[in-house]
Amino acid sequence: MNDILPEQSAAWQYLEDTLRTVVHSYGYREIRLPLLEMTELFKRSIGEVTDIVEKEMYTFEDRNGDSLTLRPEGTAGCVRACLEHGLLYNQVQRLWYTGPMFRHERPQKGRYRQFHQIGVEAFGMEGPDIDAEMVLMTARMWHALGLREVTLQLNSLGTVESRMAYRGALVDYLHGCESGLDADSRRRLSSNPLRILDSKNPDMQTIIENAPQLPDYLDAESRADFGEICAILDDAGVGYEVNPRLVRGLDYYTKTVFEWVTDRLGAQGTICAGGRYDGLVEYLGGRPTPGTGFALGLERMIALLEVHAIELPDSNPHVYLVLSGVQGIRRGMVFAGELRDAVSGLRLQVNCGDGSFKSQFKRADKSGAHYALVIGDDEAGQGSVALKPLRSDMEQEMLSQQMAAPRLRELLDI
Ligand code: HAM
Repeated sequence: MNDILPEQSAAWQYLEDTLRTVVHSYGYREIRLPLLEMTELFKRSIGEVTDIVEKEMYTFEDRNGDSLTLRPEGTAGCVRACLEHGLLYNQVQRLWYTGPMFRHERPQKGRYRQFHQIGVEAFGMEGPDIDAEMVLMTARMWHALGLREVTLQLNSLGTVESRMAYRGALVDYLHGCESGLDADSRRRLSSNPLRILDSKNPDMQTIIENAPQLPDYLDAESRADFGEICAILDDAGVGYEVNPRLVRGLDYYTKTVFEWVTDRLGAQGTICAGGRYDGLVEYLGGRPTPGTGFALGLERMIALLEVHAIELPDSNPHVYLVLSGVQGIRRGMVFAGELRDAVSGLRLQVNCGDGSFKSQFKRADKSGAHYALVIGDDEAGQGSVALKPLRSDMEQEMLSQQMAAPRLRELLDI
């Protein structure tokens, strides 16, 4: 679980602002959800035989003896909230959320026990247009952030019925090569055989490569929807790879699923993942309601911004106000407020705690500000202010205090 320190937060804010702007440009509205839910909610939605539920949840009993869990993901809580507040009754919803998620995984680069997601969910639309919208939205996000070298992988898991047919064929095949299965896969054979296809164990790869392929068992509707999504992506110029082995680690998915991956982050290369989950709302007690969505991992996005050396907008103060003498400090504190009123968007840091000119200018330099304004007792008395550039060879200027705002607007272009 990481602290995000002040020198890192500019990147986080840039990332969050950019993603929020994209999501809002598609007309999605924010929903804010609790960090804790009843454990049963995650067991039911993510699936009992998944890594998350079997091994990774932070679960505890509260004082009433209820079993609660720190959310490992946002989809389950989002569906729960929609049902609880009647948001799915005869209406469609386009929602997004953000915040920390918790999984007790083995921490490594790009994989943490507290991590952050931005998630997007849409309810009440059967697709495939809305699924395509999800993918196009993510592509727009990468574009807005200046990220390249991310690859889209797509697959269709089919309806529950077609997946059951495939599951039967897969289990038959895997029984035939049981001696070659590792312990994990043997355990999954009866509980969650599709996840065996996701195994990273090199000894399992030949078995996996020769296994029956999920696309061969797809029902006509899933196949048609998948084709339509691909056609929309083709028209929009968004490239993709069809990966028949993409099965996802959560049980609620149906039909089209997708992941955005990069090879620039080492082993944890999935930056964004999602898909359709048509059975989940009903399974959690609602009327049958189609759902689709995705979530992206903000830590991995931050790492990718660093890899690409994306230039972040400057978040340092524009101006540092150096103050000295009792009258200088009094006038300066009020003047700072006047400047903030007059120059919208101005980031102005006022020297507090006194100090010699030398030490104040040192602080001014360290703050990253481009200009210092100086008010001492004399300037306070005369209604003037000195303007001193900190990062250019522009001459120092003496201004009336009224002229400081227009001059700053001009210099800072804000
Ligand atoms: P997920 O694939 O479990 O899906 O997580 C989505 C993304 O969260 C991953 O692609 C990854 O970027 C990030 N992530 C997951 N675990 C970690 C971790 N331990 N450390 C850092 N980043 C991590 C879901 O959570 C689904 N709820 C997505 C969804 C929404 N599907 C439909 N709607």
